[in-house]
Amino acid sequence: SEPLRLGIAGLGTVGAGVVKIVQQKAELLEARSGRRIVISAVSARNRDKDRGVSLADYAWEDDPVALAKRDDVDVLVELMGGSDGPAKAATEAALRAGKDVVTANKALLAHHGQALAELAESTGAVLRFEAAVAGGIPVIKALTEGLSANRITRVMGVMNGTCNYILTRMETGGLSYQEAFAEADGLGYLEADPELDVGGIDAGHKLSLLSSIAYGTQVAFDEVELEGIGRVSIEDIRQAADMGYRIKLLGVCRMTERGLEQSMAPSLVPASSPLGQLEGGTNMVVIEGDEVGQIVLRGAGAGEGPTASAVMGDVMDVARGTRLSTFGAPASSLIKPVATKATTP
Ligand code: HSE
Repeated sequence: SEPLRLGIAGLGTVGAGVVKIVQQKAELLEARSGRRIVISAVSARNRDKDRGVSLADYAWEDDPVALAKRDDVDVLVELMGGSDGPAKAATEAALRAGKDVVTANKALLAHHGQALAELAESTGAVLRFEAAVAGGIPVIKALTEGLSANRITRVMGVMNGTCNYILTRMETGGLSYQEAFAEADGLGYLEADPELDVGGIDAGHKLSLLSSIAYGTQVAFDEVELEGIGRVSIEDIRQAADMGYRIKLLGVCRMTERGLEQSMAPSLVPASSPLGQLEGGTNMVVIEGDEVGQIVLRGAGAGEGPTASAVMGDVMDVARGTRLSTFGAPASSLIKPVATKATTP
């Protein structure tokens, strides 16, 4: 069969990780997906930056929209980030041309997921975004495939590595907020605008995607009740610990008789619970389904290898010929949820 030809837009931490996997694991990828996976062209803001990978074999495009439209690109791998601007323009250009798109861009999907899914459906393209939620944890696959016969009663979790890292290091490492923040930065966890992390917005984006998938509703990021970690003090963390609790930036979504509840806020969790034992940049997603009971998924929610792992999982599904809709249901069937205030779960 013909090779699957990628155009990679964005060569930051995740983009470099994807290039490395394609270069170093060509045989494994082909053996498991049935097709050779190659990179035709790449695009990024800065051509000259050293990324620790050779780009010499790939065409270069300054403009990601031009990349998306190239005849030698079958799949756009969008790793630029940002809810609007070039990421949105390139994604739309690819979908309009009927090309599949794999993206890690939670902000883009939280704001424009419905419109993009409808566009993809209209041209027969597939839009996949496993890497957008909880990095390396295949939570979207779990919901859309393995758990698809369940009614989901609740999804909750810690979905921002930066915040969990900061809270953990303040608590167990005795670090100040600034010191912990600098460490998270060094690990490649931070968004280009860190306020997205510490303001809870990034985690809110992810929760809105999960609730859409779990309940077959349109993404409703604007309805997420949001609070970041900026007001959590060392004193709060100590008091919680004295009572046997830890403070986590916890997201919860549930469908109730009154409507869809979505909240993302610093919350007390029992120190002995799985969520209470979550350390560092790790993420955890807890899914409760009527048939399966409770499932706990834990793993790296950010960083080069884990996020590139999720991106490549989607690329390989595309190589295998998946037509599975991103949201687990046709875009046209997703209904606008009635939002309601969260009560204590
Ligand atoms: N800034 C995000 C985090 C990266 O810290 O979790 C992964 O989405």
